[in-house]
Amino acid sequence: MEELRRFDACIFDAYGTLFDVSAAAKRYNTSIGDQWEELASIWRDKQLEYSWLRSLMGEYVSFWEITENALDYALSNLKINDPLLRKNLLALYFNLEAYSEVPETLEAFKKSGIKTAILSNGSPDMLTAAISNAGIKHLLDSVFSVDSVNIFKPHPKTYKLAYDGLCMNLDRIFFVSSNSWDAHGASNFGFNSYWVNRAKQGREFLPGEDIKEINNLLDLLPLINATY
Ligand code: LAC
Repeated sequence: MEELRRFDACIFDAYGTLFDVSAAAKRYNTSIGDQWEELASIWRDKQLEYSWLRSLMGEYVSFWEITENALDYALSNLKINDPLLRKNLLALYFNLEAYSEVPETLEAFKKSGIKTAILSNGSPDMLTAAISNAGIKHLLDSVFSVDSVNIFKPHPKTYKLAYDGLCMNLDRIFFVSSNSWDAHGASNFGFNSYWVNRAKQGREFLPGEDIKEINNLLDLLPLINATY
């Protein structure tokens, strides 16, 4: 990582960044068989697509409703009619685990006086359940859900929600997401932005180009001892 700077707060995206959605979903791959990967992929893609489309249409509903709608689309597309499977897949969102490096990373930040926060599309009840299940409530100073501004990331209003909530200078905050479009959105807003490229994907061609790429959250730890 180039340019190590010290910061006062770190904001994390939730799903795929702190919480491992794919590991939870794999628990069901045996009951679905060959179609599993396609189902998981359509579900996640539609979930994001619906969040962006509804933001463009000015038709906000909670991320929970979007998650249900996206799963219904994926199930119907693959001609799977299994209400119990639907119920179990949705329940996964209330029963997620954090990636293994999350507690150590958050603890290190907190010990050095850097504030920790989540900014997520997730609705407050989804976030409360995931945070509690992952056992990281005591390691977070703030949790911001876009539900307060009725529009999804990467709309600038969502990043402003966290910025206003933290009450710090913009250049003292960094933002971390495993979704490259989210890292671009945060950088475009003005945050120092880090992309955790867990899936080893290629770079996006989007505004907010000044994002730094890391492999996992532990790569952030040198920032703690960085000089101003
Ligand atoms: C979130 C999704 C985008 O937590 O991962 O906001």
